[in-house]
Amino acid sequence: MPMRDLTIRDLDVADLENGFLETLAFLSEVNLTPQEARPLLEDRCRAGVQTFVAVRGGRVVGTASLVAERKFIHAGGRVGHVEDVAVHRDFQRRGIGTKLVVHAVKRAQALGCYKVILDCFGPVAPFYSRLGFREFNRGLRLDLPVDL
Ligand SMILES: CC(C)(COP(=O)(O)OP(=O)(O)OC[C@H]1O[C@@H](n2cnc3c(N)ncnc32)[C@H](O)[C@@H]1OP(=O)(O)O)[C@@H](O)C(=O)NCCC(=O)NCCS
Repeated sequence: MPMRDLTIRDLDVADLENGFLETLAFLSEVNLTPQEARPLLEDRCRAGVQTFVAVRGGRVVGTASLVAERKFIHAGGRVGHVEDVAVHRDFQRRGIGTKLVVHAVKRAQALGCYKVILDCFGPVAPFYSRLGFREFNRGLRLDLPVDL
């Protein structure tokens, strides 16, 4: 059933203690305390990464991020990259992920992006195709050793 009383807005520092990290964990391991996440939020803001949250009853139940990349090609056009879309398990299949992605796409459009791209796990592709995304190119990955 679609959800009422849902707000989509930019991530706020207070959200770090209010369901945001817990919600992201439904996408992948997070392993950060809210205190550890705070400088990362500041770093992401400085780098122009926009993080959106879906809030219900004062708690974060979904999130998605957008990076608007300025190109040299396409006469300096911008490309929107949608990243880290996650909805808390208790609230999945109620239209929240859809609202978050639509919000990110609208923001990309407002920023002048000529396309929006993303990577996803194969089984989730139908979620994005409903929203107009089509498969193109092939994603590749190289894992690097890092000290965190
Ligand atoms: C994928 C995810 C973001 C979807 O969010 P959601 O709020 O549950 O999705 P919605 O309710 O907006 O889904 C709308 C429609 O998309 C499709 N859909 C939703 N989740 C899907 C999934 N996991 N696989 C395939 N199709 C899916 C369905 O057609 C659904 O309609 P239905 O519920 O009437 O069948 C959410 O399930 C999630 O966070 N999963 C775990 C993390 C993840 O995989 N994130 C995506 C990384 S690329």
